[in-house]
Amino acid sequence: MRVLVVGGGGREHALVHSFAQSPLAERIFCAPGNAGTAAEADNIPVAADDLPALLDFASREQIDLTVVGPEAPLVIGLTDLFEEHGLAVFGPNREAAQLEGSKVFAKEVMADGGVPTGAYRRHTALETALADVEGREDYPLVVKADGLAAGKGVIICAHKAEARTAVESCFVSRDFGAAGDVLITEEYLTGSEVSLLVLCDGETAVPLAPAQDYKRIFAGDQGPNTGGMGSYCPVPGFEQKAIDAAMEHVVEPVVAALRRRNVTYRGVLYAGLIVTEAGIKVLEFNCRFGDPETQAVLPRLDSDLLELCAAAADGGLGGARALWKPQDCVTVVLASAGYPASSHKGDVISGLAEAAALDDVTVYHAGTALQDGEVVTAGGRVLAVSALGDGFAAARERAYEAVGRIAFDGLQVRSDIAERAVKAQAGELDLFPRGLELA
Ligand code: GLY
Repeated sequence: MRVLVVGGGGREHALVHSFAQSPLAERIFCAPGNAGTAAEADNIPVAADDLPALLDFASREQIDLTVVGPEAPLVIGLTDLFEEHGLAVFGPNREAAQLEGSKVFAKEVMADGGVPTGAYRRHTALETALADVEGREDYPLVVKADGLAAGKGVIICAHKAEARTAVESCFVSRDFGAAGDVLITEEYLTGSEVSLLVLCDGETAVPLAPAQDYKRIFAGDQGPNTGGMGSYCPVPGFEQKAIDAAMEHVVEPVVAALRRRNVTYRGVLYAGLIVTEAGIKVLEFNCRFGDPETQAVLPRLDSDLLELCAAAADGGLGGARALWKPQDCVTVVLASAGYPASSHKGDVISGLAEAAALDDVTVYHAGTALQDGEVVTAGGRVLAVSALGDGFAAARERAYEAVGRIAFDGLQVRSDIAERAVKAQAGELDLFPRGLELA
């Protein structure tokens, strides 16, 4: 099979790395890729959202399956375009990708399917949105731009003044462009978050093992939000019963509600769940693999990912299951100086081979590039180091040992990734003190 992976981050390197282990893979391309994918695939210098150039390449190179990493190409219709030209894609079409591309669409689909989520109000004008945030007392309150806003469109507001500012950032200063033409105000939910990635073929949905990620830049969940500074898989306490409940009450009703709208969901459905006092609810849906969850999920996968993705793209997941290694996985992200406000390019990275030489360690590249024969930083999140271990304590120790072998100027890393998983596994902490029993 000739495979094209679209994207150039850590998630895409993880996809390429898994595909490279499949006997089905004849040749793998990555657009645009990074220094890590260059070692396992042929990088092509095409941006992930340049649909005409991607189509031209896939047609010319007779690509059998295109697997899309980021949301943007899906939301603008990569799948629709490729399918019109007879090319198979793992990733939802434009309408189905609206689950991530429009918060209002996702809420409406959830309402159709009876899926538990936070209460919300939709606004298209400054005056009504301001009246809403002034008139309510249920703070904190979440203000969300409806469309894709590069991860910045969700604002948690502690009080009215912050909510007013958030509303004005959408409608007055237009910080999110057209993505902020519509906003929602949403009930703030408290609880423990879980990322459940599910492979869908339009009918059948196959869950991958659950994961948790870390969004803040600094240990102890301090500092600004990032694209994700670490993750682990599986999630102690979120066992098969909870996965079954999420499938029954969230994933299957959403896929069915889409089908009633004549929308077929093929690809990964990422359910961003929160376990509240009232049970499992949905925070958000994404229409793609999570980053950095994928880097913690895939090292544990004991099935052929390429076979699963090809089956999903072809509507043939019926009877398929994902099998898992018994070990736990911990992923630690290494970021460049200035991240998340900015990033630093061109710093030479050393120790990559020494880190990867450790047993059960995989070094996934994200923002890296090759320069004069050396691997250098080329983005905010630079690497994701994943380690398997017999138990989270062993996985964590190995991941940080590998991280310790890598160096570049301004390297930033969180020191507490998976600490809570170690404690939960040792029975010292309950990650889900409330809610799971109601699911
Ligand atoms: N880890 C969060 C995301 O992929 O959106």
